[in-house]
Amino acid sequence: MNYKNLLLAAVGLCGIAACSPAPQAESNASASQPNPAPSAVRQLEEEPMQSKILVAYFSHSGNTAAVARQIADKTDAVLYEIRPQTAYPNEYSQLLDQAKEEIRSGFLPPLQQPLPDISSYDIVFIGSPNWWGTYAPAAGAFLAQYDWSGKTVVPFFTHGGGGMQNCSRDIQKHLTQANIGPAAAFRGRSGGADEKELEKWLTKIGL
Ligand SMILES: Cc1cc2nc3c(=O)[nH]c(=O)nc-3n(C[C@H](O)[C@H](O)[C@H](O)COP(=O)(O)O)c2cc1C
Repeated sequence: MNYKNLLLAAVGLCGIAACSPAPQAESNASASQPNPAPSAVRQLEEEPMQSKILVAYFSHSGNTAAVARQIADKTDAVLYEIRPQTAYPNEYSQLLDQAKEEIRSGFLPPLQQPLPDISSYDIVFIGSPNWWGTYAPAAGAFLAQYDWSGKTVVPFFTHGGGGMQNCSRDIQKHLTQANIGPAAAFRGRSGGADEKELEKWLTKIGL
C-alpha cells in the first residue's frame, strides 16, 4: 500500500480540528495493571531499518503505551518509548503537582538516550497522555530534539475523560514545517483504544 501518498492526501483534505475524533465514553480500567507484551511489534533496538513508520510515545501509567503498541501492530511500525532521565513520581498528588509546575514553566525534561534517527521514517506517530489539558512535557522534549521540516507527524493522546482539550493545538508548536496528520484522543485504558475507533482513525490517515 502506498501509505505515504494516502496519508498525505488525508492530511491535505482534513483540518486537524475537523478530523480529530471525539473521545468515546468507555470504562477507564485501572492504569496500574501490566500491559500485554508487544508480541510481533518491532522494537527500535532490534530492527531499526525496515519499517517506514515510527511510533514514539511517552506513557507514565501504561495507557498511551497500550495504544502505541496497537498502532505499531496494525501499521508494522517501530516502537520507541520516550523516557525522561528522571522518572516521574508514582504518588499521584506529587505527580499532579510536578506536572502542573513543569507545564506552567515550559520545562522540558532531559531524556534518556539514544534517540531514534527520524530520517529513517516517512511517518512519525507521537503519543502522549493528556496532562492538565495539554501534552506531557516529555513528549515536547522529544519533539524539540528534531527539525520536523517535511516530515509527516501524527499526534495521538490518551485522556481520563477530558478528551483532546488543548493537546493537539499545543503540541503543534514543536512541529513547525511538519505535515501534521489528523490527531486522535482515546480514552485511557490499560487495554488500549477501542479497536474499531482506532481502525477508523488509521483508515482516515490512509493506513
Ligand atoms: C498529571 C496528570 C494530569 C492529567 N490531566 C488530565 C486532564 O487534564 N484531562 C484528562 O482527561 N485526563 C487527565 N489525566 C489523565 C490521563 O490523561 C490519563 O489517565 C492517561 O490515559 C494516562 O496515560 P498514561 O497511562 O500513558 O500515562 C491526567 C493524568 C495525570 C497523571
